[in-house]
Amino acid sequence: METKMLAASDVVLAARLLTAGEIVIIPTETVYGLAANALDSSAVSKIFRAKGRPQDNPLIVHVSSIEMMEGLVQEVTPLARKLAERFWPGPLTIILPKTARVPDITSAGLDTVAIRMPSHPVARKIIEVSGLPLAAPSANLSGRPSPTTVQHCIDDMYGRVAAIVQDGPCDVGVESTVISLIGERPTLLRPGAVTEKQLREVTGKLDIHPSILEQLKADEKAASPGMKYKHYSPKAEVTMVEGSAESYCKYIAENAGPAVFALCFDEDLPNIKINEKISYGSVKNANTQAQRLFDCLRELDKQGAQTVFAHAPLKEGVGLAVYNRLLRACGFRVIKLK
Ligand code: TXA
Ligand code: MG
Repeated sequence: METKMLAASDVVLAARLLTAGEIVIIPTETVYGLAANALDSSAVSKIFRAKGRPQDNPLIVHVSSIEMMEGLVQEVTPLARKLAERFWPGPLTIILPKTARVPDITSAGLDTVAIRMPSHPVARKIIEVSGLPLAAPSANLSGRPSPTTVQHCIDDMYGRVAAIVQDGPCDVGVESTVISLIGERPTLLRPGAVTEKQLREVTGKLDIHPSILEQLKADEKAASPGMKYKHYSPKAEVTMVEGSAESYCKYIAENAGPAVFALCFDEDLPNIKINEKISYGSVKNANTQAQRLFDCLRELDKQGAQTVFAHAPLKEGVGLAVYNRLLRACGFRVIKLK
C-alpha cells in the first residue's frame, strides 16, 4: 500500500480517507494512534491486520465531544461525567457498557467500550471534521513499543496504512490512563499521566487492578485484555533492577559484557563505567521518563543491545505508568538489590 505522508494541517485530507474506510496514523498527546472509523467493521478490521493485533484485544474509541460519546455508551453516568469534566480532553480512557452502535470487532466482543477525548488539537480536529468516533490503538506493530515520534510510525507501519499525519514527539509519551466504571467500584486498569491520586480526588474509592504490577496467571481472565500480552518489547532481553544509584551502578560494573547496556537515569551516567548506556531522564522527573521510555527501548535495538539492565523508576505518580510499561518490556524480570 502506498502511504501518504501528511502535514498536521492536512486534517481535511485525513478526515476524507477515514470517511472512505481507510486507516490513518494520527498524533495524540500520549502516543501516535492508528485510526479508523470505529463504527465501520471493515475499516476497523484493517487496524487489526496492519498491526498484527490479536482479535480479542479491544480498541479505544476517540471522541471530540460528550454528545459523540452519548451514542456509544448505555449511559454517561454521573461519575463518568465528573471524570470527563475534570480530565477531558486529555489522557484518560473511561470504560462503560456499550450500545449496539459499537461493532463487536471494535470492542473485541465485550459488551463494554473504552472512550477517550484526546487533548491533541490535530487529533480532535480530525475527529470533528470527519464527524466520526475513531477507534485507535497505539500505531506500533503488535508487541513493539508504542510510537512517540513520526519516525517510529514509519519504522513500524510505512506501507501498511493509507496515511501518516505528521507532528512532533508526543507530550506524554505513554498511553492513556484506563479506568473501568463497570464493577461495583471504579477500577484503574492501566496507569498513565492522569495519576491514581488525581483519579481518587474525583472517584473517592478506586480499586487498583493487580495486573498493573503483577503478571496474570495463565488461567486468569484479563479485565483489560491488552494487559496479558507481551508488550513494548525490544529485541534485547531487558531486566529491571530496583535499588539505589550506588547499588545499581555496582551491579552494572559486575555484569558488564558484550552488547550489555544500561538503561539508566541522568544521575547514574557518571558512575556507570561502561560506554553502552542510555539515560531515560532524571530519577526525579517521571514526566521525562514517560516521554523518553519508548524511544529509548527502540534506540537500544538500533544500537544492537542484547542484554539491558534498566534502573527501576519510583512507582509514584506518573512513575507508576513508567514502571508498568517497563515491567512488561522486561517480561516481569525484576532484580531487587539491597
Ligand atoms: O493513549 C492511548 O490510549 C492510545 C492513544 C492512541 O489514544 N491508545 C492506546 O490504545 O493505547 P491500545 O489499543 O494500545 O490500548 C488500549 C488498552 C488495551 O490494553 C485494551 O485491552 C484496553 O485498553 N481496552 C480497550 N477497550 C477495553 C474494554 N472495553 N474493557 C477493558 N479494556 C479495554
Ligand atoms: Mg498499544
